[in-house]
Parts: sequence; structure tokens; C-alpha cells
Amino acid sequence: MKDTFIVEGLSGTKSLEGRIKVGGAKNAVLKIMAGSLLFKDGVSLSNVPNIEDVKRMEELLMDLGVSLKKKGQRALEIRLEGRTLKSRLHTDISKKMRASILLTGPLLARLGEVSFPYPGGCVLGARPIDLFVEGFRKMGASVSFKNEAYHFRAPQKKLQGTTILFKTQSVTATETFMMAGILARGKTILKNCAMEPEVKNLADFLSARGAKIKGAGTPTIEVQGSNKLLRSGSKVYKTMPDRLEAGSFLILGALTAKNLEITNCNPADLEIVIEFLRNAGVPVETGKTSISIVDNKKDNKEFKGTNFKTHEYPGFPTDLQAPMTVFLTQATGESLVFETIFEGRLNYTEDIVKMGANITMWDPHRVMVKGPTLLKGRVLEGPDIRAGLAYVIAATVARGRSVIENVYYIDRGYESIEKRLQMIGVDIERVRG
Ligand code: EPU
Repeated sequence: MKDTFIVEGLSGTKSLEGRIKVGGAKNAVLKIMAGSLLFKDGVSLSNVPNIEDVKRMEELLMDLGVSLKKKGQRALEIRLEGRTLKSRLHTDISKKMRASILLTGPLLARLGEVSFPYPGGCVLGARPIDLFVEGFRKMGASVSFKNEAYHFRAPQKKLQGTTILFKTQSVTATETFMMAGILARGKTILKNCAMEPEVKNLADFLSARGAKIKGAGTPTIEVQGSNKLLRSGSKVYKTMPDRLEAGSFLILGALTAKNLEITNCNPADLEIVIEFLRNAGVPVETGKTSISIVDNKKDNKEFKGTNFKTHEYPGFPTDLQAPMTVFLTQATGESLVFETIFEGRLNYTEDIVKMGANITMWDPHRVMVKGPTLLKGRVLEGPDIRAGLAYVIAATVARGRSVIENVYYIDRGYESIEKRLQMIGVDIERVRG
């Protein structure tokens, strides 16, 4: 399936208007799905986004032996009673999705062994797995690599609780070891943990169902291990709102909407993005579960450029770096963008330059943006989930028509994005390939 998006740019002539609803968070629900492997009975989920990455995770779980049942559009039942699980992750799917690595923690902790290929995913530069290899070794597992797959094995099928100090903060490593610790012997202490809201969300989900986890959302997490699988009973987990989707809509709105209300979100998770936009001159208001752009460009004032650098939460999210850089092409002055997390995550700027932006790459981690510049529509190929959406934003701001190829990347993270954007006035259409 090679769908494309055709976007007719607004070129300053029209303004988006209305209300757009945020879906469930990809980076939360994928972890909850992986966590289901720690349960004796299973888990029930609601507000599950209909996106490609969730489908891939469903396929991975089914291939392992788990039973899955869709209940309507957004509800999912994952059942494990009476099932025998495999310890080998499906090669082709794992190679397509980095998040497959999340399954290694629960599987190794439950079965005492796991094998998987080097995980693939978005091309954001080198995405090593050394933290996983080192951490599992510390928990007593032996590690080997043969036939293009890693094999981890725990002595007597049981991981040993230990202290792991992560060399660098990693979201999925923090989550993976938090889950592994639940079925390990004794206590696992994790230091220099990622503090992203999705980490805390996963800990809250597991704790509400019997896990003993302290400190999630801070740099140190303690997990008390147990012999017993978790139980969900009749509890239903509601997927938290996607802060990255909300942030992307906010940046799109900042550039092109007069009034826009983004609903079903948690503004507290986007504090730093809101702060940067307000400082640049965007009129942002927040409610309890909504963020609004109100009376934007009332007196035709220009937005101000600003330097920013990506940082682990609560810093500026790397996943919103591309949309924010597009914003800066429309702001006045020089802005330095410093991507500190992934060295390949500025490559998309080449395409924005071809649209007319004045962006100079200093090195793989830094670009200088001079604005404002007129962007012109052109053919673009989405390189990853978040840059893909940044292209949709750039194409909407631009003059003329853009064709965005490789829409699969956008579909990995955003549900029916074109339909939702059409409702607020974006001229976007999907052409089936
Ligand atoms: N790192 C290592 N060794 C490892 C693992 C990571 O050095 O073993 C480094 C990475 O190279 C990077 C840094 O640690 O420099 C942080 O990467 P992290 O491991 O936190 O990234 P991730 O867990 O693979 C998650 C999100 C990404 C998001 C990053 C950063 C999920 C499923 N993915 O990835 O989301 O960009 O955290 O916040 O939660 C996306 O949704 O499009 C996406 C790419």
C-alpha cells in the first residue's frame, strides 16, 4: 500500500477554524500491550488508536500466542488464560518496529528466555540496544547472537533483581526493565530513568493491577519483584491522550488557524511547547483537557524566532522538533535548533529547504533557521512518523500543491489524519496507491 497525500497550501489566504480531537497515545498503548504479557488473565483497553503501529503490536502478540479481540472501534481485549507463549519475536515485524523491543522484558521475565532480531523502526540515526543488553546481563541473563537474532536466557528461568544505572535516559529501556523487574527475584532499582508521562502511565497501570513500583516519573524507580503473574480482573485501561498529536495540532494551528480548539488532551504534558509558542507570540489558552488558539494574528503581528533544544521530558520533546522547526521558518529572525537526542532527526530539513526555507545545517545535531520565508508546495517523502506530520504542516502553510509520499509512516502514528484535518479546513486528500 503506497498511499500519498495531496495537500493544497493555504498560502496565507485562508485560516483553519474549529475543533479537533486528540486520540489515544501511541507511545502509551504500545507499552500497555507489551505489559499484558505479565498477566495471568489479560487486560482490557479502551481509547486505542487505530494506527499501523498498534496493528503491528497486535500481530506480534498474536504470533506469540496471545488471544486478541477487538470490541468496537477502539476497545481491545488481550487474553492470556490457557495460552502457551512462544519466546521468539516475529522477525519481519520486529524489524519494522523499534517498539517491539518492549516485549523482551516481560517475555524474559515470564518465560526465562527471549529471542529477537535487531529491532527496526524510524530512521532517526543509530538506535543502539546496548542498554538492553547490559541491563539484562546485570539481571543475570546470558546473551548470545546467532542466526541474526539475539538470545537472552535467565538462569533457572528467573531474572535477578539488581541496580541498573542507565548511561543515557531511554524511554523504552526504562519501561522494559520496569516490566522485567515485576517478575524478577528481589528488588530492581533503576537509576537515571526517563521521566516521560508514558513511563508514569505504564507504572500506574501496572501498580493498579498488583505490581509494586515506586518512583516512576522521577529519575529513580524501584520495583519489588514477585513470583506471581499480575491480574487485571474487570479493570479497563483507558489510553491516555497523545501529547505529540496534540502538540502537532497546536503548532499547525499556531501557523494557520485563527481559532482552534484541541480537545481530549492533557495540557500539562505540553507545558514547555506551550511556553515556547507563547513566547514567540502565539495566543495559546489552556483548559483542563483542551488547548486553544484564540484570535490568532489579530493585529497581524509577526511571530518571533527562538532558539530551542530537544531534551528528555520535561524538556522540549524530540518528537515535536520537526513541527517546531517548520514553525520557525515562519517566524522572524534567526533560530538555532539543537537536536540532542537523535543524530538523524534533522535530515528532513533538506526537503523543507527545497520548499524555500532558509535552513543551514551546522552539523547533524544543529540547524540555523532564518525566517520568515515563503514555502512552496512540492513532492515530499515522509522519512519518519513525526517528520511526516511536519511535512503536512509545511504543505498546509505553503503556496501551491504538495504531494506527500510514503504516507505509511504518518499512518503508523496518526489515525485517519486527513479526515480529521479536513474538518478544520485543511485541503488534504489521500490517493490510494
Ligand atoms: N539509546 C542508547 N542505547 C539504547 C537505547 C537508547 O544509547 O540501548 C539512546 C538513543 O540512541 C537515543 C536516546 O537513548 O539517543 C534516547 O532514545 P530512547 O531509547 O529514549 O528512544 P526510544 O525509547 O527508542 C521513544 C519513543 C520515540 C521517541 C523517543 C524519545 C516509543 C515507542 N518511542 O523511543 O518515539 O522519539 O522515545 O523520546 O516510546 C515516535 O513516536 O515517533 C518515536 C520515535
